[in-house]
Amino acid sequence: MAYIVDMRSDTVTKPTKAMKHAMVNSALGDDVFGEDPTVNALESKVATLLGKQAALFVPSGTMANLIAIMVHCNKRGSEAIVGRESHIFQYEQGGSAHLAGVLLHPMKNNPDGTFDLAEVESLIRGSDVHEPITSLVCIENTHNKCGGKVLPLKWLDECAALCKRHSIPLHVDGARLLNASAHLEVAPERLVRDCDTVYICFSKGLSAPVGSALAGSYHFIEQARRMRKMLGGGMRQAGVLAAAALVALEEVAPRLPLDHKRAFRLAKVIEGLFLKSFSVDVANQHTNIVLVRIAAASALSADAVLQRLEQVCLAETQGDCKTTNDEGVIVKGIPFDNKTIRLTTHNDISDEDLWLAIMKITYVFKELDAAHPF
Ligand SMILES: Cc1ncc(COP(=O)(O)O)c(C=O)c1O
Repeated sequence: MAYIVDMRSDTVTKPTKAMKHAMVNSALGDDVFGEDPTVNALESKVATLLGKQAALFVPSGTMANLIAIMVHCNKRGSEAIVGRESHIFQYEQGGSAHLAGVLLHPMKNNPDGTFDLAEVESLIRGSDVHEPITSLVCIENTHNKCGGKVLPLKWLDECAALCKRHSIPLHVDGARLLNASAHLEVAPERLVRDCDTVYICFSKGLSAPVGSALAGSYHFIEQARRMRKMLGGGMRQAGVLAAAALVALEEVAPRLPLDHKRAFRLAKVIEGLFLKSFSVDVANQHTNIVLVRIAAASALSADAVLQRLEQVCLAETQGDCKTTNDEGVIVKGIPFDNKTIRLTTHNDISDEDLWLAIMKITYVFKELDAAHPF
């Protein structure tokens, strides 16, 4: 069997030993009655970490975003301004329309994950009866589809100030907020200081099996708790999961800079190949997501490249891309579009895994570049 280096997502991480131990040994209760001590401990820890009054443990990031939209946009005819490349707009099935009756207004994202604030300001509606009600602005930090970009602090502050001026709440999809915090070496609390609500995800770079926590004011969390129950997200002895999330914050969060270092190393190697077909933006490589761009003029597609990375040819096992058992290496990534591949580092990618991935990627990229001149 070939050795697999799975870089599709940081969600493929398995719980650590310490997480499994905590899952078996933590105190439990019925969380819908508010009686699970481990969930209560996690919610209180997250609220403190993010500088908010309260927090709520929810099954997923998608549900956290949906709940935030439902609570903030509680008037019929509401509209939320989001980035076009945001997870909320791209990958949540339009749940805000589907389930909340909320219109999303997508703004063009800049390559760094931000969007034009003057344009946001111009989009905010007045009291014209023809128009929907602008009720929320959502931002994403780090920004997944823009390649794990960390939003600049100055932009965050300006965005929050704009929202305050217009009395519009600001929600942060912080699935990877702790990656942003690690990159900037700035406390998570500071990154969301002027935002109304934020959630963080435990099951991505933090390696826990399940769960996110949504944070905001007492009043917001009270409403969010009702929404969570309505959406079927009221979990009972959820301490089993919260226990792993608590370990994730203690054990894995401090290791995020290592994932970033490894992603940077990978990006640097790809850049250093000087191939016409493949490029990476090393200068703007912030966190654990590496985007490999395939040249527009190339006949190669992201799917074709990924397929090749999942094959092992005889020459590889006799050359550079071999493991100790000589059966070769498979590297898994995902296509973001026809010309973009995402490779993600995470807690289950060791230095040795990274080395094997680098050997394989180098071999395959050189081979494909030579075979597809343009
Ligand atoms: C930025 C961002 N937001 C939200 C989500 C959704 O999280 P979940 O898969 O837990 O629903 C993801 C998932 O990858 C994400 O990357």
